[in-house]
Amino acid sequence: MDHYRLFGYPLGHSLSPRIYQLFSEQTQRPLIYDTNEVTADAFPEAIRRFFNDGGQGANVTAPLKGIAAQWADRLTPAAQLGSVNMLIRLPDGQILGDNSDGFGLINDLQRQQLLTSGARLLLLGAGGAARGLLPQLLATQPAEIVLLNRTESTAVALAEACCSLGSIRVASLQQLPSGPFDLVIQATSVRHQIAFQSMMSTLPWPMAACYDLNYSSTASLTPFLQWAGQQGATQLVDGLGMLVEQAAYAFNCWRQVTPSVDTVLSILRQELACRH
Ligand code: ATR
Repeated sequence: MDHYRLFGYPLGHSLSPRIYQLFSEQTQRPLIYDTNEVTADAFPEAIRRFFNDGGQGANVTAPLKGIAAQWADRLTPAAQLGSVNMLIRLPDGQILGDNSDGFGLINDLQRQQLLTSGARLLLLGAGGAARGLLPQLLATQPAEIVLLNRTESTAVALAEACCSLGSIRVASLQQLPSGPFDLVIQATSVRHQIAFQSMMSTLPWPMAACYDLNYSSTASLTPFLQWAGQQGATQLVDGLGMLVEQAAYAFNCWRQVTPSVDTVLSILRQELACRH
């Protein structure tokens, strides 16, 4: 049976195996999908061994997306900023690095009717997650994308890397952007409210809508969304829809069939609601 694997560190209770199991049942395309929690040092050897042993494709999550981009033989336009979240074995044996996060985010924003034309977007974070999103986000031609990151130089470097794709304004913590924004996208690896407080408390709240790439392993809001709600944001959306959308994109690339995202999303929401 074709074998697929998720690499990252840490992986915690990743929902990806469950998502691919549901896709597989729904489309009647059997596959093996497992996880490998592996550090950055050990990742190149682990991924080489996986493909040498016959693996057909892989997902990659933090902090390995940049290493995966260096390791792949070729990159798609979606991965051109050096962030790969999926690898696929091509018929000629080469490994193609792609990124489905941007597709996943845009599809989910459209489902939630959060992507209006002429929107002003504030993107928090300039790591592998933000790098993966920006090619698709810029392609939607928003009125403005402002990038805010704890380390300003990293945001400047990312904005420069994007210059052929579109324009991004970099904000600094000392000189915060003037608001309001139509949508704030939280793409850092921060998991504690205190970090958002120190990073964002002087931003021009309230924002209309806040989207957190993270999702909670229970039915509760993520720390960022809890905090944004306290600041007066009116729409609070977690990244579960994006997770399922980006997995559906990968499943389609690997298995040549498009699963129903809505069905899987509602099963997962029900399962998370049963957790405490
Ligand atoms: P990776 O880059 O390893 O793939 P990521 O999920 O994209 O991981 O998360 C990295 C992002 O989270 C970066 O923007 C990082 O900011 P720095 O460039 O300043 O490191 C951000 N981040 C991580 N910890 C943070 C914290 N405590 N406060 C603010 N931002 C933080």
